[in-house]
Amino acid sequence: MLRKNFESNIIHIYRHCYMKYFNQSVHYLFSNHNDLTSLKSSRKYSQTLNETNNTIQKAPHLPVMVNEVLKYLDPSPGKIIVDMTFGAGGHSIKILESSPDVKIFALDRDPLAHQYAQDLSEKYPGQIIPLLGRFSELPQLFCKHKINIKSIDGFLFDFGCSSMQFDIAERGFATSKNGPLDMRMDGFRCPSEPTAAEVLEKISEIDLVHILKVYGEEKQAKKIARAIIDARYTFRSLKTTQELAELVETVITEKRVDKLVKLK
Ligand SMILES: C[S@@+](CC[C@H](N)C(=O)[O-])C[C@H]1O[C@@H](n2cnc3c(N)ncnc32)[C@H](O)[C@@H]1O
Repeated sequence: MLRKNFESNIIHIYRHCYMKYFNQSVHYLFSNHNDLTSLKSSRKYSQTLNETNNTIQKAPHLPVMVNEVLKYLDPSPGKIIVDMTFGAGGHSIKILESSPDVKIFALDRDPLAHQYAQDLSEKYPGQIIPLLGRFSELPQLFCKHKINIKSIDGFLFDFGCSSMQFDIAERGFATSKNGPLDMRMDGFRCPSEPTAAEVLEKISEIDLVHILKVYGEEKQAKKIARAIIDARYTFRSLKTTQELAELVETVITEKRVDKLVKLK
């Protein structure tokens, strides 16, 4: 049965446990939307894309809270669902497997996730419709694809970074891997967006503390922000995730456990 109240179908899944320092937060500074064609022809992007496919084939993404997603979205033939955070498609695949003839609009701002959605659409023709863009771009994307909002039965949100964003060192999300301090969730599709390194070069201390504290839930936000600002005066370059991690380690000395209780 189709539900009229979409709100009851919106599932919010918080994945704070995967967030490190301010990975989850600098994205709010980023905007713009550029052409994917030129992006795909760039060597760096293709390299990253190939790496992603390899990585995922080796270590498939394990979606969290599948049971809850299936329970609340209750997929059945004819239902139309929007996966607002497609990622590696872990949840979407489970939805497709759980019921025949379900249709999923697969949104993600990350071109790598979009490529993944395109691959999946070949396996499930007509059932997966990949959409590349941010949440705020959904109305235009719906217009372009002539999608009537009233036909949607459920929206799924699985906030946070995808495992493939963390897995690829070049994306600059993982402090456990050495890569450029990039962290752009839109990848290379928006070249004018600042990288995390560029943000750290210019941001004010007060804004940095705010990002770390509010979006990163970092208790030592002030200490870390001070160290980053001080690094500017000692001409210490923060161009890589390792450089940032090392700097943070100089001010945060205690051993930390993440929310999955793993020692870091
Ligand atoms: C935690 S992952 C989703 C994982 C996915 N549920 C799965 O099972 O593979 C979150 C995804 O949301 C995307 N994302 C984050 N913010 C977004 C936004 N504002 N608009 C569109 N996609 C966004 C990220 O690029 C990332 O791929």
